[in-house]
Amino acid sequence: MSTVKQENLKFAGVSETYEVQAHPQSNRLYHISMKPEIVKRFFQRVRENDISVQRLEYTPYERHVVAGFLLELSGSGLQDVILNILHDRDSGGFTIGVQGEQLNTDDYVIFSTALAHLAGLPNHDAMSNKYYARFTVKDTDDSDSYLRQAYRLFTMHTDGTFVDEPTDWLLMMKMHEAHAKGGESRLLHLDDWEDLEKFSTDPLASHEFTYKAPPSKNVAQEIKRTVFFKVNNKPCICFIDQFAHPESIEEANYLKNLSHSMESDKNVIELELPVGDLVMVNNLFWLHGRAAFEKNPLLDRELLRQRGRFTK
Ligand SMILES: [Fe+2]
Repeated sequence: MSTVKQENLKFAGVSETYEVQAHPQSNRLYHISMKPEIVKRFFQRVRENDISVQRLEYTPYERHVVAGFLLELSGSGLQDVILNILHDRDSGGFTIGVQGEQLNTDDYVIFSTALAHLAGLPNHDAMSNKYYARFTVKDTDDSDSYLRQAYRLFTMHTDGTFVDEPTDWLLMMKMHEAHAKGGESRLLHLDDWEDLEKFSTDPLASHEFTYKAPPSKNVAQEIKRTVFFKVNNKPCICFIDQFAHPESIEEANYLKNLSHSMESDKNVIELELPVGDLVMVNNLFWLHGRAAFEKNPLLDRELLRQRGRFTK
């Protein structure tokens, strides 16, 4: 559990339509509670305007239109709160949800689309060929990465390592969950990582590693990236163990030791995310992964992801 001082909660407060509080699991994160009435009215507006998931997929402007609905109903301050939190180095993350509204998974796609478009623009997700991707974790899996392998730890990483476009933020929404024990999203803020100094000042911190994606990602290009880089004079990270291709024993050991150090850091948060809630984090200084699930033949969990860039 992270031990961050209370003064980092600079965006906490109450408005007529939502409340911003410290997240119960970490003072690095906030939880935004929308008034249930606002969520209800948001989906009324969506239905009155006949906006479906297919409509959002086919017509990009509708994605901004639903973000506009949420902003209109909650007050324009919501967008500033979201952007301020995501940009704030002391925090950079929050959770928000549909407040127990009885909804279907298409509604969750619509809600997450509104949130993503308050933050910026989602990147094209080559895995799904859409601006978002939904992926299910079950008892068995035949894929070529750890994404869907339920009983393995999915190691800490950032997203967008093997694509040639900025990935400033990441959104993950819990769509469905049955017979799932474990499998929490694991999160680590870079400034809470005890070995940050050691690895970010190593000569290999600025070495350009080659990243290649496996076939399921539908990304053929190779990218060269340094593990650490600076934004506003603070170290940021771009790392995933599976897709980095070191060229020497020394480079390999640097990556392996870095990964091991992050996995075993005592400040890793195992986030409890109810169905209908989403988490958004700054992808430049938050690492994410997934705990292993407990074995269950009926395991069935679905997450939605969107990752993108800031536009403001
Ligand atoms: Fe990821």
